Amino acid sequence: MKTLEYIEKHKKRFLNELFELLKQPSISANPKYAKNVFKTAEMVEESLKQIGINVTQLYKTDGHPIVYGEKIIDSTLPTILIYGHYDVQPPDPLELWDSDPFKPEIRDGKIYARGACDDKGQFFMHVKAAEIMIQTNQLPCNIKFMIEGEEEVGSENLEKFVKENKELLAADIIVISDTGIIANDTPSITTGLRGLSYVEVEVTGPNRDLHSGLYGGAVANPINILCEMIASLHDNDKKINIPGFYDNVEILSDSERESMAKAPFNLENYKKELDIDSVYGESHFSTMERNSIRPTLDVNGIWGGYIGEGAKTVIASKAYAKISMRLVPNQKSDEITSLFERHFKSIAPKGVSVKVTPHHGGEAYVSPINEKGYLAASKAMTDTFGKTPIPVRSGGSIPIVALFEKELGLKSILMGFGLDSDAIHSPNEHYGLFNFFKGIETIPLFFKYFSQKA
Ligand code: BES
Ligand code: MN
Ligand code: MN
Repeated sequence: MKTLEYIEKHKKRFLNELFELLKQPSISANPKYAKNVFKTAEMVEESLKQIGINVTQLYKTDGHPIVYGEKIIDSTLPTILIYGHYDVQPPDPLELWDSDPFKPEIRDGKIYARGACDDKGQFFMHVKAAEIMIQTNQLPCNIKFMIEGEEEVGSENLEKFVKENKELLAADIIVISDTGIIANDTPSITTGLRGLSYVEVEVTGPNRDLHSGLYGGAVANPINILCEMIASLHDNDKKINIPGFYDNVEILSDSERESMAKAPFNLENYKKELDIDSVYGESHFSTMERNSIRPTLDVNGIWGGYIGEGAKTVIASKAYAKISMRLVPNQKSDEITSLFERHFKSIAPKGVSVKVTPHHGGEAYVSPINEKGYLAASKAMTDTFGKTPIPVRSGGSIPIVALFEKELGLKSILMGFGLDSDAIHSPNEHYGLFNFFKGIETIPLFFKYFSQKA
């Protein structure tokens, strides 16, 4: 009850404080915004100081800083480490936003801004929940914060930081709110994340752009070739045509698949929400399986040639694409990247050359549902939603989570409160007020249940 009263009393201020963070364009991918990213880190550190996190520190890296904070009340008590990220995706295409991505506003009970859900609105729930626990004397254990500024670009510097600061980061569990629930009346806890392999490809034909009449038909057109090569990467069953790609893919048992199928899912609503007349994907798997337990290959961007006004008759010298592969447990990101590179080069016809440049990647993650951390999250959400949350494997990736397990030996509880419809990474990203405050209400209960002696 104390928690709800506190929220009620300080609601307005909580939102105002979140809005100040949302106003900062902390776009980690674009060096132009490095100053804003830094400023945001300082604001996050300040927000920790203000609530009584007595030790705080901005750790500079080769990239954007990591905000660290801790409040150790008794070294014999458990320690919960909160991870989140204050960086955001670029807001483009800007013209598709109904309001400025960095001027947060509330419409229809939702906060609209870049980062509202991913992840400023979500990590800030932990800051406010900690405020409540500290100010109402109900913090039952030690708490650490690690909020980074490079999640959206692959967490490379955090990886180094984690490897070099294992003692600083010692804890009993990591809690992350950077995922979602099925629906506001159907709580769920994310028990898996997919891994990622990401490559950029470049196909080069002639040494310069050519007149498509004078040369057309006589030389390889890199754009045509790139399209053919990409099209050949899936077979008729929509399986990925790269030798060795499925070798280590985790196969779920029938009973695991059956229990997965129990999670509510309405195909008609799914199609309606996306304005599509049919779903599409690998044969023999359901939509929910396709986007969680199965690996994928998707072109994320493709370009080359003339894309300006009107027509220009030209055969471009080069064509490019960015390709992501989502991976499932036991597939290794580096191995998949090499398999891709070898295969993609092998299918290039004479007349073009191919360059493959790997980008950041990461491994998949699964968490058990019979351990203390999951059970505490489940109890906490049952209290606040009035329903037991359903365990769900997500299709998204947070590569650092597998690394936390490897380097720190710590499991992460993925207790996020977003919705798939929150449009993260898209125009008009938003986060429900219901979800923001539900998160703040739930987190102190997680702390309570996790700290209770068995
Ligand atoms: N918070 C997301 C990941 C996410 C969202 C997982 C919803 C599950 C449900 C995270 O910020 C993200 O966008 N991750 C990237 C990977 C990263 C290396 C850029 C992704 O999944 O594309
Ligand atoms: Mn995120
Ligand atoms: Mn993201």
